[in-house]
Amino acid sequence: MSLSHSQQVTESNAVRVVDGNVPLASRTRHLGGSVLQRCWTLVEAPVQIARGARSLLVFPETQEVIGLSTRIAHCFHNEAAVCQDAVRDVLSEQTHEVVEQTITQIDALLRTRCVLESKECRVRNDSPPYDAVLNLSVTEFCNLRCRHCYSDSSPSRSGRIKNPEAVVRDFVSTFGDHERLDVALTGGEPTLWPGTVPLLKTVSFSSVPGRIPTLYVNTNGTVLTDEHARTFASLGVHVAVSLDGPDAYTHEQIRGPGTFFRTLKGMERLRFANAWFGVNVLIHPGNFDRLEELFDLAVGSGAKSINAFTLDRMGRASRAEEWPNIARDERFKNDSRQLECVPDYLAYRQQHRILTRRPDLAMYLRNGFFLGQLLRVRLRRRVRCGIGRHPTFYVSSDGSAYPDIALFHPEFKLGSVSMGFEQLRRHPFLEMMRNREPISARSQCASCPLRMFCGGGCPGDNFQRTGTLEPSEDICQELYQATEELLWILSERPAYLGA
Ligand SMILES: C[S@@+](CC[C@H](N)C(=O)[O-])C[C@H]1O[C@@H](n2cnc3c(N)ncnc32)[C@H](O)[C@@H]1O
Ligand code: SF4
Ligand code: SF4
Repeated sequence: MSLSHSQQVTESNAVRVVDGNVPLASRTRHLGGSVLQRCWTLVEAPVQIARGARSLLVFPETQEVIGLSTRIAHCFHNEAAVCQDAVRDVLSEQTHEVVEQTITQIDALLRTRCVLESKECRVRNDSPPYDAVLNLSVTEFCNLRCRHCYSDSSPSRSGRIKNPEAVVRDFVSTFGDHERLDVALTGGEPTLWPGTVPLLKTVSFSSVPGRIPTLYVNTNGTVLTDEHARTFASLGVHVAVSLDGPDAYTHEQIRGPGTFFRTLKGMERLRFANAWFGVNVLIHPGNFDRLEELFDLAVGSGAKSINAFTLDRMGRASRAEEWPNIARDERFKNDSRQLECVPDYLAYRQQHRILTRRPDLAMYLRNGFFLGQLLRVRLRRRVRCGIGRHPTFYVSSDGSAYPDIALFHPEFKLGSVSMGFEQLRRHPFLEMMRNREPISARSQCASCPLRMFCGGGCPGDNFQRTGTLEPSEDICQELYQATEELLWILSERPAYLGA
């Protein structure tokens, strides 16, 4: 596809596409006063990723992406200097006016990005300031036995946390200088642990003076009482209710029989008490085609936020034999995890489709995985694992501390909370993660064009699947596909991202 009057420039913050539909009047704004060069000298050679008539030019180190028609992108493929005559040759069948206009557009596009050698690069937004986060599993006991449960919780597990007030108090006093301090109670099922309400009250009323952490509770909602709901409301606790389907059949594929209506009842209690709550949604083959319905159900039930995520291969989810086929769907068959789980790139594309049709849902999905990733790429924030660089801990119900839920594995046990967080934070593993070589220096990823966007994957996820912190070839393929999908989605300039 070549450029013409009807194929003009569109832009988003991070990605621009020269084949969109911006009216001429707004296009000319970008062109004012630019002086055409005979050649473009680029800060680095871009890599071209083509999909039919459209291509992305990825500048790996500069972390810029530009969309062009594939024919024109070929001129830039692996070239750090491009003569404008190359574009003139490609467009030789066009009128002189169209060709010159196209070159002016490309020139403007390159100038507004950070890719011309003459242009001073803006400082890249780096990782956002990180919060201090404590995920505290107060009990491994649960009334359910969900087939995907990373903590392997069930009615036959009995571990309970000891001295939770002291654990939270120590965490708050150790990391009280962080701008945000989050304490999330999880499990197992926290609403089945009698200590949940007293713990929340103690932390809210008598935590370290001046610092009351933001409190969260994760729940399956099935046994949540009015007292829970009132307490959560009065203490301003953020509640996350797990909802995995828009109907009983789909939800119960994951959570077991008789759970769906009880979960809805729990949400109703929260709404009635005016408690703030959002929903956690596992995207699985059974609900994949019905996510919009599921989101609507959540919003209609009073949820203020939706966090939809794909499966982590941990706990019960790491044991394929415990994951019977829940939907025979060709799209999910080739997933290298061999569970019938939804690959991230499909989960992104599906949510993009929904949000394109239903931009009103974007405000609910803002803090979810997909929009979080999309915004990160748009703001050109590098992905860097925060483990070791900011305080996140997962404390299991026996009081063992881990660097993160994703590294909940005996190999990564940092010690017991009785040691105190001051000592735990100095653990050699966290030190090693803090000083880990950058992605550009890691042999496997050093030459990957998407390295700055991908970051080499989550070390926890890598470990769960390969036994090392590095991604295997299979994981790398999935990460590449997911990252590329984000760039394509961004190149479509999704309106739901806002101006
Ligand atoms: C472990 S549960 C504990 C709290 C509560 N029992 C519940 O189900 O919400 C916390 C959250 O982790 C999610 N989860 C559990 N196992 C997972 C896995 N293997 N991959 C992704 N999310 C998982 C659950 O769906 C739930 O939203
Ligand atoms: S996901 Fe939650 S409800 Fe399900 S078994 Fe695990 S702890 Fe229980
Ligand atoms: S894991 Fe794969 S896709 Fe990600 S940066 Fe490394 S080589 Fe690239």
